[in-house]
Amino acid sequence: MRARREGDEMRTRLGLLVAAALAAASCTAEAPAGPPFRTDTSVRLLMANMVDPAADLVWDAVGTVLDETGETRWEPETEEEWLQVRLGAMAIAESANLLMMDGRARDQGQWITLSQGMSDAAMQAFAAAEAEDADLVFDLGETVYNSCNACHGLYWVDDTDRGRAVMPGN
Ligand code: HEC
Repeated sequence: MRARREGDEMRTRLGLLVAAALAAASCTAEAPAGPPFRTDTSVRLLMANMVDPAADLVWDAVGTVLDETGETRWEPETEEEWLQVRLGAMAIAESANLLMMDGRARDQGQWITLSQGMSDAAMQAFAAAEAEDADLVFDLGETVYNSCNACHGLYWVDDTDRGRAVMPGN
């Protein structure tokens, strides 16, 4: 009886040792690696002050209005105007990385996929801006918009302000 208790005690101690060793190992594995990124700016602030203004640079760059004077179409004409479109597209694409950072990512599954979707759409728009293809920039504006919406439909809920991110003309 006594011997058995001692045996049990031994096993328990061994178990604790193993658990401690595992905890130490996983601590080492999870120790922060790389630069001390700051993620205290919330997803909402990033959206309002970076992602949305960047998207406007893409969405507002090319368009058409119909009024009594007829059809008015605009598109970037100068190198500076094209640069604004590239800036917008690039900022959207890179902000996908900011959204995927620990502290901002709401999960490691769909959130990541949706962020990548936004990045892909924005990089396509960037390529179109580089090629100075105004019609393509216009069409890809919708692809970008859909990539925003796909995430908002799942993660931006119960908010009366929802829907402020709309396509120009809508
Ligand atoms: C991976 C997810 C995701 C993607 C992609 C995404 N958003 Fe958001 N967005 C959110 C979430 C979540 C909120 C709500 C903020 C909160 O609840 O923290 C939000 C809120 C916003 C807001 C409201 C900010 C405010 O002041 O309340 C705007 C505007 C916005 N997004 C624009 C965009 C645009 C434009 C795009 C695409 C170019 C985009 N978002 C792509 C997740 C996303």
